[in-house]
Amino acid sequence: DRGAEASHDLAGRKVVVSAGGTREYLDPVRFLGNRSSGLQGYALARAAASRGAHVTLVSANVTLADPAGVSVVRVETTQQLRDAVVAATATADAVVMAAAPADFRPTAVSEAKIKKADDGSAPSIELEQNPDILAEISHDRAREGAVIVGFAAETGDATGSVLELGRAKLARKACDLLVVNDVSGGAVFGSADNEAVVLAADGAAVEVPHGSKTALAHVIWDEVVRRFAD
Ligand code: CTP
Ligand code: CA
Repeated sequence: DRGAEASHDLAGRKVVVSAGGTREYLDPVRFLGNRSSGLQGYALARAAASRGAHVTLVSANVTLADPAGVSVVRVETTQQLRDAVVAATATADAVVMAAAPADFRPTAVSEAKIKKADDGSAPSIELEQNPDILAEISHDRAREGAVIVGFAAETGDATGSVLELGRAKLARKACDLLVVNDVSGGAVFGSADNEAVVLAADGAAVEVPHGSKTALAHVIWDEVVRRFAD
């Protein structure tokens, strides 16, 4: 997307990007998952690498090819994603949580495949909440200095508009930037394009018009670079 004038403004920077959607297993063959394709996270990783960054891409269940020049760490569950992101964040200048971690996991994983009952009944699945990775790394200011970016796919509901929900989520997560997508109708999933507003904790809001996920990735890195302390 960027021509020969593309800057190397991430040279010498270490960045972490998470991508894809986590799986929470019920038994050895079944899981709860979500519709994240990983395209936006991979576009972020490629864009950062093209701007000179050392990129760690923590990839959850994505079928895309590894981007050139990027270290890819593969995970499946939210807990594995958390462990990989927290480990990589310790030395990072920026972290972008583009992954869709499953919010809940079954309280127990059956070691054997769950079988159907003859009487036509169905099992109930008890769930518990997964750790909130973005909130954890944002609140843990031992990792001072890293610019932390979250994503929010919102539909808007009775409690607020897409942007109101985004502002509230930004405050709750305590990250520096939150990229808010309107996903009413499910248009974003698996699509090459995206449209978003980048909300900042300092009050700024950058509207990104409909365009490629690569174009949005570059806007996000522009906003990250602007917030580096030195
Ligand atoms: N996120 C995370 N850990 C989780 C859930 C979400 O780090 N367990 C991150 C996502 O990667 C994303 C941001 O938090 O960058 C917002 O995700 P979202 O699902 O919108 O937030 P939730 O707090 O899970 O709220 P909701 O109830 O709307 O799903
Ligand atoms: Ca969620």
